[in-house]
Formats: sequence, structure tokens, C-alpha cells
Amino acid sequence: MPTLAVYPGSFDPLTNGHVDIISRGARLFDRIIVSILVNAEKSPLFSMDERVEITREVFKDQPNVEVDTFDGLLVDYVERRHAQVIVRGLRAVSDFEFEFQLALMNQRLNAKIQTVFMMPAEQYTYISSRLIKEVVSLGGRVHGLVPQLVEARLREKVKR
Ligand code: PNS
Repeated sequence: MPTLAVYPGSFDPLTNGHVDIISRGARLFDRIIVSILVNAEKSPLFSMDERVEITREVFKDQPNVEVDTFDGLLVDYVERRHAQVIVRGLRAVSDFEFEFQLALMNQRLNAKIQTVFMMPAEQYTYISSRLIKEVVSLGGRVHGLVPQLVEARLREKVKR
């Protein structure tokens, strides 16, 4: 049976850390679904449509990467999609506590679904969507930390 993985998150915006984890997942699993949570934040910088469009564009040449949206309980969505694995990235020890809680709660909610943690390449371990937004809003450069398309879109947003 092909192994299908879900990589859930807010992706506001997609960073090179996310891209790194998705690429690793695409090598490890038959298919990885990048699943963007609807309404994670009340006022996201990028709309859901923008986040879907950007992620699809970045992975347009990788046929086993799919982009989708979800709401409600993650485990219910994973089951609906007939996936077996949830992928989460771990950057540093500081991520561990929240990720540990999330994985164990998901395991309690549905013991058939397995969470797999992956580490991004070292150069991405300090990147977060929150920091990217802060740096850009204060006029800093994020070149090399996000896909070029995201960088261009961030610049447009700051200009407005
Ligand atoms: O990118 P993020 O914000 O770290 O992603 C968090 C996410 C989307 C994985 C988490 O908030 C989530 O799974 N939300 C869906 C609702 C849910 O299932 N909550 C219970 C998880 S224990």
C-alpha cells in the first residue's frame, strides 16, 4: 500500500525550512500532502488562496507533492484523506514541548496515525514564518530564507 503523509501547518508564509521538510517527505513517502489550516490566525498576512497558489507554484515540478486545505481536527482530516502519517518539522529543542503534546494528543485521538518528525538542513533551523514577517515589516531582507516567489510577494505587501 502506498504511504501517504500529511504535512499540516499555517504556512503564513511558506519558508525555505518548510520547503526543505516537504522535499525530504517527498523522497521518503509515496505522496505528501501539504495541508494548510483554514483560519489558523484571525488576520493572516497571506490569504488562504495566496498560500495555496504559492505552495502549488513552488512544487509544480514535484508530482508527488499535493497542496490542500483543512479545518477541524487534524486526525479526522488525515483519516479522510486515507493518509497514515503526519509529518512535522523539528528545528530546535524549543519546538519539542509543543510538538510532543501535539503528537501524543493526536495519537490518543487516533492511534492508527503515526507522527514522523524531520529535521531541516542546519541553515534553516532558526527560520520561522513569524520571524520572516517581523523582519520584512521592519524593512529587513529575507533573501535565501523563503522561496523567491514568497520574497517577491512579501515585498509587494510591504509596499502597500
Ligand atoms: O504551522 P503551525 O501553526 O505550527 O501548525 C499547527 C497545526 C496546524 C499542525 C495544529 O494547530 C493543528 O493540527 N490544528 C488543527 C486542529 C487540531 O487537530 N487540534 C488538535 C491537535 S492536538
